[in-house]
Amino acid sequence: MSPQFKHILVIVIVLLSGLSGFIFSYYNHSGSSQLQSENATQLIETYHYPAIFVQQLKGDAHAGQKIFKEFCASCHAAEPLIDINAPHIGDKQAWKGFRSLGMDAMLTITINGAGAMPARGGCFECSDEQLRETINYILDLSR
Ligand code: HEC
Repeated sequence: MSPQFKHILVIVIVLLSGLSGFIFSYYNHSGSSQLQSENATQLIETYHYPAIFVQQLKGDAHAGQKIFKEFCASCHAAEPLIDINAPHIGDKQAWKGFRSLGMDAMLTITINGAGAMPARGGCFECSDEQLRETINYILDLSR
């Protein structure tokens, strides 16, 4: 192998590694900008990144419903995945008692957890305000 050829070979290898790095970062980048697209909430729900999911719900009029579906429905749905006697959504009788405690008390109990319910209903990334919206969603469908 002549010295000139070696020289050219080294240059070609360096260029190729740079190109592959560029292609790799390009595809990575287009993947992350997809997360900011209109279908983002759907994607996030599918892959379940709670912190990003919750952040994206800021200002969403249906935040309560979406948080409920993602974090609370396993116990509070009308037909829950795990039936551990959580008050079910739509059960007017069950929610009448809780409703009479008032929102502040219900929110405090949800934040601290109660019985089998984990703290913040399992949504550790939810703000207090988002938990309040979620409780309001439950109450609206349970009157
Ligand atoms: C692992 C099951 C589970 C999950 C998940 C869960 N809960 Fe609960 N929740 C319960 C149970 C059980 C109770 C009844 C607690 C008790 O009083 O013993 C309850 C009670 C409540 C109450 C009534 C509290 C009171 O005494 O005033 C509210 C409000 C509530 N949950 C909201 C939520 C919200 C909002 C979420 C989702 C962010 C959630 N829960 C997620 C199991 C769950």
